[in-house]
Amino acid sequence: MPNKSVHTFDVSNVSKIFGQGKNQTVAVDDVTLYVADEEIISIVGGSGCGKSVLAKMMLGLYPQTSGEFLYRGAPITDQRKHWSEVQSVFQDPFSCFNQFFTIRSQLKDAFGILPERLSRGEVEDRVDEALLAVNVTPKDIEGKYPFELSGGQMQRMLLARIFALKPRVLIADEPTSMVDACVRANILDYLMKLKEELKMTIVFITHDIGLAYYVSNRIFIMHEGKMVEMGEPDQIIQDPQSPHTVQLLDDIPDINRQWIKR
Ligand SMILES: Nc1ncnc2c1ncn2[C@@H]1O[C@H](COP(=O)(O)OP(=O)(O)OP(=O)(O)O)[C@@H](O)[C@H]1O
Ligand SMILES: [Mg+2]
Repeated sequence: MPNKSVHTFDVSNVSKIFGQGKNQTVAVDDVTLYVADEEIISIVGGSGCGKSVLAKMMLGLYPQTSGEFLYRGAPITDQRKHWSEVQSVFQDPFSCFNQFFTIRSQLKDAFGILPERLSRGEVEDRVDEALLAVNVTPKDIEGKYPFELSGGQMQRMLLARIFALKPRVLIADEPTSMVDACVRANILDYLMKLKEELKMTIVFITHDIGLAYYVSNRIFIMHEGKMVEMGEPDQIIQDPQSPHTVQLLDDIPDINRQWIKR
């Protein structure tokens, strides 16, 4: 079917329902949106509003209950192929690494997902380069296991993996949740650097509309599974239409207010 324009994601009337009958949860409720190539969008909303479920659908981890969910014009059928292009940084970095293997070996193994085969030397070089990109000296993690690092350090390991793999699309679900303000600013800067250098599309998920304002081209506001508002950051901040957006604006931590000109 030609003529309909194809984006990184085209999501039409998508719902995701868990459970049945009385135990039913409508996690995502009739959401329609697109994410353009090389765009950074933010999905903002309170706890339990469906952000992570939507993110997992973008990763091909959950099928939708209804509606149409397309990646570059086609449904996500082959997860492995999908993950060679679409990668994630999640809230809990420990869950993304196996506790029984060293960090370095897992960073190296991550290259297995790529279609091209790299030589051993190339893999070692790309791992070093990625560690340096997130301000970690390769020697500092040599021989270390995930449990030997802090939450913030592990989040940086996840970002290092992204730098190493250079995916086309990054789904970043609260990647700054476990780190202090200074490291948070660094991580955001890394994300911007990734976008600049790799021409990456980024879906950034957060509770904090201040962070969203700082990083994104467009902001999507979610509440109870529904998309209640979307628009450009200035428009959303200066002229919020939904009471849920107003609430999120009131909830911005002081540390992030500096970014907002109201
Ligand atoms: N695998 C699952 N099975 C059943 N219900 C689920 C599942 N995953 C999520 N839910 C429910 O779907 C709703 C949305 O969850 P989701 O994790 O997307 O929230 P969120 O917006 O990411 O919240 P937070 O900001 O706290 O991470 C919640 O009510 C949650 O309990
Ligand atoms: Mg979540």
